[in-house]
Amino acid sequence: MKKTTSSALLIIVLILCGISGCQSQTNQQPFTLTCTPYLQNLHQNGITIMWMVNNNATSWVEYGKTEQRGSKAVHTQSGMVDVNPGVQKIVLTGLEPGTRYFYRVASNEVKLLQAYKVIFGDTLFSETYSFTTPSASTRQFSFLAFNDLHSKPQFVNDIVKRENGFSFAMLNGDIMGDINTEDEIAKCMLIPFSNYFATGKPFFLTRGNHETRGSGARSLLKYIDTPSGKYYYSFTYGIACFIVLDCGEDKPDEHPAYFGLADYDNYRIDEAEWLSLEVQKPAFKNAEYKIVCIHMPITLQPQGEDKIGNGPADCSAKFAPILNKAGVDLLLAGHTHQFAVIHPQKGVTNFPVIVGGAPVSGNDQTKTTYTLVEVGKSGITCFLKKVNGDVIEEVKIKK
Ligand SMILES: [Fe+2]
Repeated sequence: MKKTTSSALLIIVLILCGISGCQSQTNQQPFTLTCTPYLQNLHQNGITIMWMVNNNATSWVEYGKTEQRGSKAVHTQSGMVDVNPGVQKIVLTGLEPGTRYFYRVASNEVKLLQAYKVIFGDTLFSETYSFTTPSASTRQFSFLAFNDLHSKPQFVNDIVKRENGFSFAMLNGDIMGDINTEDEIAKCMLIPFSNYFATGKPFFLTRGNHETRGSGARSLLKYIDTPSGKYYYSFTYGIACFIVLDCGEDKPDEHPAYFGLADYDNYRIDEAEWLSLEVQKPAFKNAEYKIVCIHMPITLQPQGEDKIGNGPADCSAKFAPILNKAGVDLLLAGHTHQFAVIHPQKGVTNFPVIVGGAPVSGNDQTKTTYTLVEVGKSGITCFLKKVNGDVIEEVKIKK
C-alpha cells in the first residue's frame, strides 16, 4: 500500500515537472531587455557588444559608419547561432581604425526551440549608440581609473559627466563587494555602468580579491570579454600598451576563509609565465607608454600576512621582477582603501605606483578617489582626484 502511494506521488511529480518544463519553453514573462549594451574589448579593428535579456533569445547587432548602420553581426558557436537567456554577446570584427561606428542591438525572443519547431516572440531594439575605434596614431587620449567601489557605483555617474573627454574606464578591482549571485554582477556593475557611459565607451575590468568570493564569482567571466578570455590580458590603445593582471586572493590559499577552494599560488605562477612572455611581444616592447593595472599594489614592502597579506606579497614576488625589467611607466592599483602615490624605488618598483582610495567602511565618499590619466605626446599625467573633482595629487611621467 505504501509502495503504491509513493509511486502515485512520483507520477504526479513527474507530470508537474513535465508541465513546468513546457512552461519554461513558453515563458509568460514579458520579454525585456534587462541591461542596455555595454562595450568590451575595444581595439582598432573590433569590439565586443554585450547586453542582457530576461528570456531565451537570439540576438544581433546592426552597425555602420552612419546612423543608418547597414551591416549585421550575429554570434555563432560550432555553426549554431546563439539562443540563450541572460547575457548576449556579439563580436564585431574588420572595423577600421580611428573610425566612429553607430550601432543598435536587437534580440528576438525564442519561445520554443525544438528540433522541428521554433516559435519566435517579439523583437526588441535598443536605441542607436556610437563608439570610436582607436588607431595606432592615437597619440593623445585619457581614461578614468576606479577601484574598490564595493557595489556602490552611484557617484561614478557625476564623474563621467564631468570628465566627459575620456576614452574608456579601467575598473581596477573590487568594483563589487563579493558576488553571491550572478544577479549582483548585473545590478552592481553592468546596469549602472551601461547607464552611465558604457553604451559608448568601453570598460576594462581588473579582477579584485572580492570578485573571487561567492558562487556568482565563478561566472563573472561570462559577463565580460577580454582579449585573452582570462582575467589577465593586455591590450593596445593608440601609443600605449596596457597589461591587466589578476591578483587573486589576499590571504594564503590554506586560510580557513577559503574552505580549501583557493589555488591562487599556482594561478599566479601560470600568470607570471604568461607575463614574462607578454612583455617580450612587439605590441608591448614597441609601445611608447607601458601601463600596468592590478588590484593589489606591487611594492615589495614588508611582507607577511600582518603587514600586507600573502596575496600582495606573492604578486610582488612573482610580478615585480618581470615588470622592473620591462620598462613599465606606470602601475595603477587599489585594494588598501588608502590613496597613495609611491614614487619609483630602484629595485623595488622602478615605476610610479598610484593607489586609489576608498572608505575603509561605510559610505564616506571623502575617502573615495579616482584617477584621470592623460596620455600625451610628451608623457603621462595622472590626476588623483576626490569625488567632487578636486585634485589631491598630480603625477607627471615624462618621456
Ligand atoms: Fe581588495
